[in-house]
Amino acid sequence: MKRKHGQVQLAVDTRELAENLIDVGQEKPMSVFSDPCSSEFAYSTGNSLWGASYELIRFIQEDGDGGGPFCGQAVELGAGSGAVSLVLWMRGAAVLGTDVELGLMQFNIDHNTEYGANAGAKRGGISTACLEWKDHNAARTVRADVSPGLIVGAELSYDSDIHADLIETLLILTARDPKEEREEQEQEEEKEEEEPCVVLLAVPHRDEDRELITTAKAKGFNVQLMKACPPTEEHASEVGIYKLVRRSAAKGKKTQ
Ligand SMILES: C[S@@+](CC[C@H](N)C(=O)[O-])C[C@H]1O[C@@H](n2cnc3c(N)ncnc32)[C@H](O)[C@@H]1O
Repeated sequence: MKRKHGQVQLAVDTRELAENLIDVGQEKPMSVFSDPCSSEFAYSTGNSLWGASYELIRFIQEDGDGGGPFCGQAVELGAGSGAVSLVLWMRGAAVLGTDVELGLMQFNIDHNTEYGANAGAKRGGISTACLEWKDHNAARTVRADVSPGLIVGAELSYDSDIHADLIETLLILTARDPKEEREEQEQEEEKEEEEPCVVLLAVPHRDEDRELITTAKAKGFNVQLMKACPPTEEHASEVGIYKLVRRSAAKGKKTQ
């Protein structure tokens, strides 16, 4: 099967890929490919559709972002195959899926363009951008370009060596525009405070992964466990769905 993305012609043999079917409440499930042997994509970030992403997808579909469907601008970090981004897009968000390598995610977006006809997906677009967490300038560019209201990530915490860069990326992406913040303080009486950017992370409850939550709290996020998902055949460990909000923006919201 041949797929065209921009100037790049992808010649992809889907027989080498694994197909994951995701119920999105439509007649046909969404079909998202992963590349178990990195056979089609040079450095595949989507060797699998990782267990925590199934839980994040369920949470988004069942519970929204903690208060109904999300219709603003979302950014996914370490998106891999792009499944979570695709589901958010289906539900009406404008989505930027990011990772260090984008071929498989772009292939899956092209493969699922039929969902562009859905009412929800029509409201916002879906695109991809390279974002490696140690590249803080790239994070600043994403923040300036799309100003996200929601950031999502599944199964990103397995390596504690990259926690610091991941948290720094989250700090940059959730930073308030200083000018807007000043204006809001000046007009405190008249203007309602803008909704803070929400981060939703699906984190397996293994020791090294939990360290990310501890670091996030220490670096200025209020953290709330929204849901604890017991082990299933998709994931051997319990998975926590965590909501993170920058403390300065949260202004006294509850911590856990
Ligand atoms: C375990 S996979 C999870 C993929 C996807 N979120 C899922 O649940 O199916 C971890 C993802 O994080 C990405 N990643 C790892 N280190 C990264 C870094 N330093 N900067 C950006 N992305 C990174 C990988 O490329 C990979 O796609």
